[in-house]
Amino acid sequence: MNARNGTESQAFGGAWTREKLSILQRYLDAYTTALKNQPFSLMYVDAFAGTGRVALPGKDREDLRELIRGSAAIALNIQDKRFDRLIFVEQDSDRCSELEGLKGTHSGQRVEIIRSDANQFLKSLQEDWREWRGVLFLDPFATEVEWETVRRISEFKALDTWILFPVGAIQRMLPTRRLPDEIDPAWAQRLTTVFGGDSWRELYGRSPQGTLFGDEEFGREPGSDGLLRIYKAQLANLFGSRLLEVSRPLRNSRNSVLFELLFCVGNDSPKAIGPAKRIAKHILDHL
Ligand SMILES: C[S@@+](CC[C@H](N)C(=O)[O-])C[C@H]1O[C@@H](n2cnc3c(N)ncnc32)[C@H](O)[C@@H]1O
Repeated sequence: MNARNGTESQAFGGAWTREKLSILQRYLDAYTTALKNQPFSLMYVDAFAGTGRVALPGKDREDLRELIRGSAAIALNIQDKRFDRLIFVEQDSDRCSELEGLKGTHSGQRVEIIRSDANQFLKSLQEDWREWRGVLFLDPFATEVEWETVRRISEFKALDTWILFPVGAIQRMLPTRRLPDEIDPAWAQRLTTVFGGDSWRELYGRSPQGTLFGDEEFGREPGSDGLLRIYKAQLANLFGSRLLEVSRPLRNSRNSVLFELLFCVGNDSPKAIGPAKRIAKHILDHL
């Protein structure tokens, strides 16, 4: 099965995919239970929804695919308190058709399938946020999430958001032994869209002792710490204490970080921030 094939289920990932989906499931369970007696309607927004199924290499035999629930199916199957409304955004029409099939097997629930670019959808989303609270899952393939979208989400003050920040893809776009102006212009433009400006260029500079970048006098700070530090600092500026300081690197079988899973609370009242961060941190610490 092809990883980019929109039919059947999606095939990609490995242990880190299970990890991210387990974290999501635990949070959705805890979230709906915690807000069960609050006077809000609850929504789940899956902005990169996929198909509702993921085919992973088998735990025992890699050549045998194992089908597991994807994020959309996980959200539909949250039991204790169900979401009042689920919005699945997906750009690919075949995947939308699969989502329609999934919706058909959950006829008692209010499900909206929206074929759209996630950024466009989220930037134009308008709701009565006095009535609604919810969870948003941003699970792109790579660098699809724009900073402008994250900024917009922070203004809703209603959606607790899990973001997969594509550390691995960004690292590949940032050669260590060049100057920022030598980066492919299309990549540079993409990075500027993801970071909402040129902050990523701060990773490049002259080595103070001439050693930081190996033999080169100029270059990029090696590794992924720097780019994560910059992105987290920007999130902290935007979300303030709503950003959970702890995050989870998701690594492939060669131990390289593919994504960093980050969490921001939606609502800015201390009554919302404290419990949401405690739950998310507990899950990240124990899973
Ligand atoms: C990593 S997969 C999501 C997997 C899903 N969360 C799951 O657990 O099953 C990313 C999905 O985003 C879709 N996608 C890619 N770019 C998109 C965009 N700009 N807007 C909406 N969907 C997009 C892809 O077609 C793909 O199905």
